[in-house]
Amino acid sequence: MSFLNNLIVSAVQLMPKQIVGYFSSRYISGENIEDAIKVTRDLNNQGIYTTIDVLGESVKNREEATVCMNEALNVLETISTFGLKANLSLKPTQMGLAIDEEFGYQQVRTILQSAKGYKIFVRIDMEDSPYTDATFRLFRKLKEEFDNVGVVVQAYLKRTYDDVVVLNKIGTNYRLCKGIYIEPASIAYKDKEQVRKNYVQDLEVILKNGNYVGIATHDEYLVKEAYRLIKELNIPKDKFEFQMLLGVREELRNKINNDGYKVRVYVPFGKQWYAYSIRRLQENPQVAGYIVKNLFSGR
Ligand code: FDA
Repeated sequence: MSFLNNLIVSAVQLMPKQIVGYFSSRYISGENIEDAIKVTRDLNNQGIYTTIDVLGESVKNREEATVCMNEALNVLETISTFGLKANLSLKPTQMGLAIDEEFGYQQVRTILQSAKGYKIFVRIDMEDSPYTDATFRLFRKLKEEFDNVGVVVQAYLKRTYDDVVVLNKIGTNYRLCKGIYIEPASIAYKDKEQVRKNYVQDLEVILKNGNYVGIATHDEYLVKEAYRLIKELNIPKDKFEFQMLLGVREELRNKINNDGYKVRVYVPFGKQWYAYSIRRLQENPQVAGYIVKNLFSGR
């Protein structure tokens, strides 16, 4: 990361909300569910699926977590009502996992019961490392009762290969991603090549065991490696899909779609778009660079 990019990333945090909003609009469908419906419909028309996420970062009490649960229930009802090719993604701490594990479990269980009725799949996102174990406990407990639930594993964590070996045994439906949070070097690979290597190893052991996986990446190298593994291992198309974030590497997304593979786009919406945008912009300083360029070129 260049000095300039670093500077731009810091500057992003100081930018007025309106400006961040203007440049972040490509990553977020909008503030309301209608926005997520519109984006999903557009993508569905191109043969692309979505997973809808209600934005929200830190939940401080049970009341706030219950509001989030009700929003998730509303998303499920909307997906069903409008016949969207979409599923739901949720953050466990948003549902109250960090407040009380049993409470968080009950909340997600309510969501899964509703989703089961609609035949909708629910993906439990993975957050930062203080919640990794609790999230796996939550997932395993839910998996005993529901088939329409899956979890996320992060290739930057050193533990992930071992987690995958264990989770394969219960027929886990995965999303495999690199990981987005800043984690200590004691538990996470910092070297880009090492993360890629781990990603490919994790993907291989998942596919070899016949588990379903959402291959979530915009990294062309990893997409190529996934193509290679799928071919070499002769993996049927109903055992994987590719996943990308809204507004990121659309040309790669279209290529994968045109190659005949299933693609799903993560479609966030909600009033809490600001924290999400800052995270996306910090994650990719080159994008922050584009932002500033656009800012001065008067796009
Ligand atoms: P990498 O960061 O190397 O990006 C490859 C290329 O893609 C870049 O060079 C750039 O061109 C482009 N690119 C990547 N990010 C971009 C951006 N924000 N804007 C513009 N261009 C960008 N993480 C997590 O910890 N828990 C989770 O639950 C999830 N969930 C999740 C769902 C889905 C569908 C996706 C695609 C990703 C996640 N992630 C996540 C985030 C993930 O861990 C990771 O941080 C990002 O996907 C970036 O990693 P890449 O594999 O894309 O590689």
